[in-house]
This record gives sequence, C-alpha cells and structure tokens, in this order.
Amino acid sequence: MGYKIALIRGDGVGPEVVSSAVQVLSEIGFYADYVEIRAGLSLFKEMGKPLEEVELSKIKECDAALKGPIATLLGPGTYTSVNVLLRKYFNLYVNFRPFENLVNEKYPYFNFIIFRENTEELYTGAEWNFGEASVALRVITKKATQKIVSYSFNYALKNDRKRVTVVHKANILKETDGLFRDTFFEESKKYPLQADEIIVDSAAYQLVKNPEQFDVLVTPNLYGDILSDLAAGLVGSLGLCGSANIGDKYAIFEPVHGVAWDIAGKGIANPIGAILSSSYLLDWLSEKHNDKRLAKYSKVISLAVKNVLKLKKFTKELGGNLTTEDLTKLIITETKKVEAIF
Ligand code: IPM
Ligand code: MG
Repeated sequence: MGYKIALIRGDGVGPEVVSSAVQVLSEIGFYADYVEIRAGLSLFKEMGKPLEEVELSKIKECDAALKGPIATLLGPGTYTSVNVLLRKYFNLYVNFRPFENLVNEKYPYFNFIIFRENTEELYTGAEWNFGEASVALRVITKKATQKIVSYSFNYALKNDRKRVTVVHKANILKETDGLFRDTFFEESKKYPLQADEIIVDSAAYQLVKNPEQFDVLVTPNLYGDILSDLAAGLVGSLGLCGSANIGDKYAIFEPVHGVAWDIAGKGIANPIGAILSSSYLLDWLSEKHNDKRLAKYSKVISLAVKNVLKLKKFTKELGGNLTTEDLTKLIITETKKVEAIF
C-alpha cells in the first residue's frame, strides 16, 4: 500500500534534518508520496501568516506527517506557535519522547520515556494583560488527562515496561495538578503495573542524580516540555532525540530540538533526532495499518542509529566533525547491514 506523508520541513536546520530522514526512509525501501507543507517563519515573512488554512487540509489527507522545527517568536502580539497549533488542531494529545543513554559516559545506561500531555494546560494561549498584571488560564481536564494517562499505561504494558510515574505539583496546584494526579491513580487500577508519583521539582533533581531509576513518566504539558529538554541534556544532545505527537487519527513526528539558527544552512546539524522520529513514524503506521513490514523498517533504523553511535563519530555539538550528510550516510550504510539480520 502506498502511504502519503506530509513533510513540514520547517525553519532553521529543519530542512536539512528532514531531508536526511527522508533519505534514510527511501534507502530502506519505504516509498511514500510526499506532500510538501509550507509553514514557519519564512512563510510568515512572505505571506504574513506562518501557516495557511489549506495546508491543514493537505495534512489531513496524509497518513502521517514528518516535521522539522518551526520558529516560535517571543512576547505579546507575535503569531501563535505553529507547533502548538498543529497539536491542538489535530488533537495530538500524546507527546511521546523516549530517552535512552547511548553516548553520555557521565551517566550509566538509562532508558525512559516521557509522555507529555500535548493539548492543554498552559499551552492554550488563554492569557490577558491588565496593564500592570498579566494572567494565564491553566486548564487541566479529566478527559485529556485520561487520554494521555491511558495511552501511557497501554504503551507501558505493550512494551514490557514495569513502572509508570506521574509528575505533578499537586502540593501547590491542588485543583489542577490534583485532578491530573487523581485521574492518573484512578486509571492506574486498570493495569498490572507499578504506578507511583513524583513532585516535579524532585523529578528534575532525581533525573539529574539517578535517571536510571525511571521507566515511564507522565506529565502535564509544561513540565513535560521542560523535563524533556533536561532529559535531552542527559543523553548528551537535543540533536539525538526524536519524538511523536499522536492522536486517535493523526500523528506528527519531529525531532525534539529547535531551529538552531546558529548552525542553520551549514550542513552540520545532527540528523539523528529526525531519523529516529521517522522510525517512530514507521512504527505508528505499522500498527495503524497492521503493516508488519514497516515495524521491521522501524527497528532497522533504530538499531542502525544505535550501532553508528557506538562508533563514537559525532556531529559538532557532540564534539565530532561529521557533517549532517556524513552521519546520514553512515546510518544508511548501517541499515543495509542490520537488515540482513532481520
Ligand atoms: C517542544 C518545543 C515547543 C513546546 C515550542 C517550540 C512551542 O519546545 O516541542 O518541546 O514548547 O512544546
Ligand atoms: Mg520544548
């Protein structure tokens, strides 16, 4: 079956890393119809809008989307983040961010996942200024919490994970985080898994001290945003981390890193975050369409990335001198070797 994939190349290093991921996909034998979607700062400069309505319908017609980072602007009056808009528009309530330590010698091996609620809380943009005071509305609903929590437990069960930990600040935010926490424990009763909790500040501390203790973490939106960058620091680089934004019908896959203007266009960005995201895309498509071939491709990509990282040849941000293209080629060559063992 032919799949249709929306490509949102994005800003900064986005086009470079997305093109690496597409190269890997095609070398591995995943032939898709790619639909180019324009979005981001360059479009905003040209058209006065960072995303046009029609692009949303184009994405809707695709089976999944692969996306690069899109610039967000600071302060009042600037356009709403396209990242956030897409997550809300397609109701991508799961933000899946796995962190496995493959290169950071300062830490022991760890392998945990952050599941971040992706559609509400402080990301709804409900903010007002009253002169000397500004107010933000922080909404947490039982429905959205149930969705992210049950997704995380189901994932944990399917993937042989043992422990699911909810991250919150219900000692202070008694109603909002209290609801998130209570919903978590209510849902947890349905699963034969260890369910426990940690307060968000303590989670930051424990992640830095002993990340290997964690298995699956579930968090409201903003804590997940912050802790996932912290976790990227633990694995050694944001450039190594891929992610998935998943809803019931749609899903968008993107590296965790941002636009990195300082290295954009230089051909030295780390493509691994984008390549791993494409592996998550294949896995999601495989499950959705019961297409076993894609699950195999997904495994081949992630194993090839692991093997290449063992060579300790890196891009610049990790102290190496590989270009984006060098690293992409190494991974492609490795996929051919790995394929043979599957
Ligand atoms: C992320 C990013 C986004 C977020 C920004 C770009 C809106 O930091 O995906 O983690 O805050 O979610
Ligand atoms: Mg972030």
